[in-house]
Amino acid sequence: MVIYRRMTPGDVPFISRLEEETFSMPWSADSFLEMIGKEDARYYVAEEEGRLLGGCGVLMIAGEGNITNVVIAPEARNKGIGTAMLRHLMTEGDKEGLTAYTLEVRVSNAAAIHVYEKLGFESAGIRPGFYEKPAEDALIFWKR
Ligand SMILES: CC(C)(COP(=O)(O)OP(=O)(O)OC[C@H]1O[C@@H](n2cnc3c(N)ncnc32)[C@H](O)[C@@H]1OP(=O)(O)O)[C@@H](O)C(=O)NCCC(=O)NCCS
Repeated sequence: MVIYRRMTPGDVPFISRLEEETFSMPWSADSFLEMIGKEDARYYVAEEEGRLLGGCGVLMIAGEGNITNVVIAPEARNKGIGTAMLRHLMTEGDKEGLTAYTLEVRVSNAAAIHVYEKLGFESAGIRPGFYEKPAEDALIFWKR
């Protein structure tokens, strides 16, 4: 059974390694350690029988959640875990009073865009040249 729980310092080596394998501009372990210690941030992992499968996190700003990270290990993708992990993040966020969620995604990232749209996010425009390595526009998504 896959469970979703708060990220702890012990999870950070796995999550930052997964970030490095996945993204051209990954967050460092220190960034995650800093974020999970913040009062206004909530970071989660997906775990199955003690094995970590991915993580995500949200910064809470004035009642809105800015989702900063979403990643699932390659071998665990397309099994509904990313969707369920984000549902968990938003269920917990709702309990804390968040009324809207936003995130950015590369315009070419069809799998992530599919997941966000499935979860009710809608595109609210483009941030030209938001990403580097390679340079690419970001789609801005909101769920209200
Ligand atoms: C985006 C990501 C987190 C999704 O996690 P996941 O566990 O695979 O997600 P799910 O299994 O819940 O859903 C995947 C959906 O995308 C669909 N999908 C997969 N590849 C796709 C593609 N190339 N184009 C369109 N849809 C695609 C799947 O069919 C599935 O949809 P369905 O449930 O309607 O069948 C994962 O792919 C990932 O870690 N990617 C690399 C990191 C990343 O891009 N993070 C987001 C940065 S903004």
